[in-house]
Amino acid sequence: MSTLLVTGGAGFIGSNFVRHALEHTGHDVVVLDKLTYAGDLASLEGVPSDRFRFVRGDIGDAGLVGALTAELDPATDAIVHFAAESHNDNSLAGPRPFVDTNILGTYTLIEAARERELRFHHISTDEVYGDLELDDPAKFTESTAYRPSSPYSSTKAASDLLVAAWVRSFGLRATISSCSNNYGPYQHVEKFIPRQITNVLGGKRPKLYGSGRNVRDWIHVDDHNSAVLAILERGRVGETYLIGANGERNNLQVVETILELLGQPRDAYDLVDDRPGHDLRYAIDASKLRTETGWAPRYTDFRDGLARTIEWYRDNEAWWGPQKAATEARYAELGR
Ligand code: NAD
Ligand code: DAU
Repeated sequence: MSTLLVTGGAGFIGSNFVRHALEHTGHDVVVLDKLTYAGDLASLEGVPSDRFRFVRGDIGDAGLVGALTAELDPATDAIVHFAAESHNDNSLAGPRPFVDTNILGTYTLIEAARERELRFHHISTDEVYGDLELDDPAKFTESTAYRPSSPYSSTKAASDLLVAAWVRSFGLRATISSCSNNYGPYQHVEKFIPRQITNVLGGKRPKLYGSGRNVRDWIHVDDHNSAVLAILERGRVGETYLIGANGERNNLQVVETILELLGQPRDAYDLVDDRPGHDLRYAIDASKLRTETGWAPRYTDFRDGLARTIEWYRDNEAWWGPQKAATEARYAELGR
């Protein structure tokens, strides 16, 4: 039996990962999470307590991180690092926590992993590659040059470079995965899809930035997490893997589908001010991951995955309701 130390395990992707790992593997899980505005213990309700432990704390706290990594066995255990400040709009309004958590927090973790010679998996994002033109036939690959646009993506890029340098200079046994936009249950209502679903459920109109033509490459969160497990089990140490499921859609198309699935007119949305520096298009070529690990996504029908996600938000207002008013108040200040 081995243990995964999961940072950020009370956030959107991390909490889904904890459930997925407990259900589909024999690993025990220890979560280290600061419980920022984006973390919620309710996202972990019902996980089996005999295989799971929660520790509240900051990944930048070297003493706490050292105590937790001292419990791990380098022969069998691993750190899976999800914790981050993750929202672009917040990074534009106040970048400092992004530098602290995404760069210095990652530094603290890889130093602890180096000290104990622990296997480390770093969760990154396709945003480190900047953006593509709408008609560019190329997609992002592992050899695309880094060209981040926002404070969020630049701090994620910095953390990737730290991990890669620790691999080369210190022999850290690390892998990196860079995934496209996730959707699914337990995603904070500040993010695009949950914001629009909960707006419509609450009788408000979806808000589209700019022209609504920006393209994102959507993947269900369970497919992201099965890919992370595939990399932990079968990935090559020192390598980066892109994770994506050929889910390109523009924001207008996504909003129209949400409106339709909720029985509203397809044009019942508002266009609002654009995000400064707004990346135009992301698109992932996941060939390396598929070829080397045999991974394939299960949620290949976006409309069906979105319909299930809408059902989840409809059934779980107790989870998202307490965050909604404060989130919309922040957007109102930004004029979006
Ligand atoms: P999230 O904002 O929902 O959750 C982040 C979690 O990290 C929260 O539980 C928060 O409390 C915790 N956290 C923040 N700062 C911390 C600190 N200093 N110490 C300990 N815990 C801290 O984020 P998410 O959307 O689940 O993203 C998880 C990871 O996946 C991030 O690294 C993000 O960059 C990456 N990613 C996200 C997406 C996406 O579409 N959401 C896509 C690709 C990659
Ligand atoms: O690509 C991976 C990234 O995806 C992750 O690294 C980030 O952590 C995650 O937040 C996400 O970043 P985006 O900026 O693409 O996601 P967001 O949900 O904020 O916005 C998705 C798109 O929708 C983007 O083009 C902006 C737009 N948008 C967003 C909101 C919140 C709107 O049009 N209206 C909105 O209200």
